[in-house]
Amino acid sequence: MDKLVLTGGARLDGTVVTSGSKNGTLAIMAGALLGKGETILKNVPSIGDCRTMMDMLRALGVKCEEEGNGVVRIDATEISATEAPYELVKRMRASFCVLGPVLARKGYAKVAMPGGCDIGARPIDFHVKGIQTLGAYVNIDHGFVEAECEQLKGAQVYLNFPSAGATQHIMSSACLAEGVTTIHNAAAEPEVTQLAEFLTKMGARIEGAGTSTVRVEGVGELHGVEFDMPPDRMEAGTFAVAAVVTMGDVRIERIRPDDVEPFALKLRESGAIIEMTENTMRVRANSRPMATDIMTMPHPGFPTDLQQPFAAMLAIADGTSVITENVYERRFRYVNELTRMGADIKQDGRTAVINGVPKLTGAQTTASDLRAGAALVCAALAAEGQSEISGIEHIERGYEKMVDKLKSIGAQVGVVPDEQEKEAVCV
Ligand code: UD1
Repeated sequence: MDKLVLTGGARLDGTVVTSGSKNGTLAIMAGALLGKGETILKNVPSIGDCRTMMDMLRALGVKCEEEGNGVVRIDATEISATEAPYELVKRMRASFCVLGPVLARKGYAKVAMPGGCDIGARPIDFHVKGIQTLGAYVNIDHGFVEAECEQLKGAQVYLNFPSAGATQHIMSSACLAEGVTTIHNAAAEPEVTQLAEFLTKMGARIEGAGTSTVRVEGVGELHGVEFDMPPDRMEAGTFAVAAVVTMGDVRIERIRPDDVEPFALKLRESGAIIEMTENTMRVRANSRPMATDIMTMPHPGFPTDLQQPFAAMLAIADGTSVITENVYERRFRYVNELTRMGADIKQDGRTAVINGVPKLTGAQTTASDLRAGAALVCAALAAEGQSEISGIEHIERGYEKMVDKLKSIGAQVGVVPDEQEKEAVCV
């Protein structure tokens, strides 16, 4: 596997444009299975996870073509297969969310149990309970979830935790159910609202998306539409941190202010200067960041996906910060790697105490998952000397052209083939 080589210390200065939202696009692609006729998605990010979802749609016998320039055409008029293969679901958890739409369209679906980033226990019980509440008979056996139901029926669904994925999955499935479904304690993540906007355009009747109660009135059929993928708030947050740790000045174009507010407020607390317009955010820092505490929560709380890049910033902050991870307990797997770069972090369970140090030093590190990769990139940008980051396939899953974008604003970064692997190939 290739490695990312980054020499820290360069001040980032310039403009980056965010790609389409990874999490929003994945949910929307699964939602496209509900419609007959062609759906044209624009601004689809060119990342590994979206390619996996496209492979999944094709595996279900749906027409799915990438046109280039972020345009993807999906025609789910025919869904000729009802089984989602393990090979694809193990690569990415979000692909599990084809279960409900295929079931709603075909009366039967069989999907392998999910995989994805290893960031802690990622059960599917809310998804399964939701589908069952809508009237499906569900059988879990030999690593597969099998669901059967001639016609889903609207129902009251309560989530024990406001899960983004379960809210999206149940909301989508309910669109073709008979009657009204209400999801209580629903997730209010922007990606839920984005999916609701998409489904509504397809003909669905949804109210309350973005609040804790989502109401879906089932309709007989949905149709294909054209839809622009919304901006990726996690990418915006990652570049914002990159600007702060290099004491830079970066304009991030294509953002939604409400979506980025939770982390923008935290950046301000740490001393960054943030200027926001309707669709841009300028992030500047003139001095070392100040320590600040972070507690991850469902939206509009601080997003768990940005906990890791923010930890890189807090590692060089003036003072002591406490991070409490309330969503995914294993999202601390970057701690040892940052420690190797000179960070002073003590982690126990869901809490990490970070004593900021004046500087980090470049080191060889490995990304264990997508956002851990983002944290290591941010740390390497701030560090003295050269860092090597292995495991960049994780970064490629979720960040479009990250290296090119970083280079365009002044980072000294490149991708090199892994020497060991080269040797192994030579032998
Ligand atoms: C999505 C995002 C991920 C983000 C997360 C939280 C995608 C592709 N991924 O993941 O980047 O970090 O939301 O904002 O959109 N849970 C259960 N049972 C379930 C489902 C979830 O117990 O059936 C728990 C999880 O273990 C976790 C919490 O609920 O502790 C939140 O998970 P959830 O919001 O579902 O995350 P994902 O949708 O998988």
